[in-house]
Amino acid sequence: MADRILIFYGSYRSDRQGIRLADYLVRAFSARGATPELIDARAVGLPMLDRMYKEYPKGEAPATLEELAGKIRAADAFVFVTGEYNWGQQPGLKNLTDHFLEEWFWRPAAIASYSAGRLAGAHASVAWHGTLTEMGMVVISSTLTVGGIGHALDATGAPSGDAGAALAKTFPRFADDLAWWTEAAREQRARVAPPY
Ligand SMILES: Cc1cc2nc3c(=O)[nH]c(=O)nc-3n(C[C@H](O)[C@H](O)[C@H](O)COP(=O)(O)O)c2cc1C
Repeated sequence: MADRILIFYGSYRSDRQGIRLADYLVRAFSARGATPELIDARAVGLPMLDRMYKEYPKGEAPATLEELAGKIRAADAFVFVTGEYNWGQQPGLKNLTDHFLEEWFWRPAAIASYSAGRLAGAHASVAWHGTLTEMGMVVISSTLTVGGIGHALDATGAPSGDAGAALAKTFPRFADDLAWWTEAAREQRARVAPPY
């Protein structure tokens, strides 16, 4: 069975660069035989959090939330493509993520961080690790870190320069790690119902 992987990206900026990394990951996971789908928070367009999905009476959540909840529940794994704003998480992606809780449980998640500088969004990556853990995902230890995001991928999302070469070299191990935990979690969910 092909792994159903949701790839989340959350910059709302007009001149956003991280979308290239998100597009690259969609293509790279596809090439491995997985079934990735990009969830672009800006395109989803949720408002600032008022009610979480679960706070709506059953069947009364807005259609966008309902549709996204279904996709999250059906996914085998998640990838968070995260930039860094002032050492923190991008608010658009955090806002989307906070709309859900139980929908995330019992699946692995991986973090791909990036930034304009050489630290490649490392601070945001660390922040996401705790957030995703709190939301019931099992965060794999492999990470992707892309520095100099403006030059690491060209406009088509193809790796370029040293940072792009490093990304292309690191991706297979990152994907192998996620695939192993994805299969493990799927088998275990089939074998034993999650405890809550
Ligand atoms: C508000 C803001 C804060 C930023 N803070 C950081 C930072 O703390 N560390 C860093 O390496 N880059 C920082 N940058 C540069 C971003 O890494 C770079 O602009 C990147 O392209 C942002 O992702 P996006 O283009 O997908 O929105 C910041 C950029 C913005 C707009």
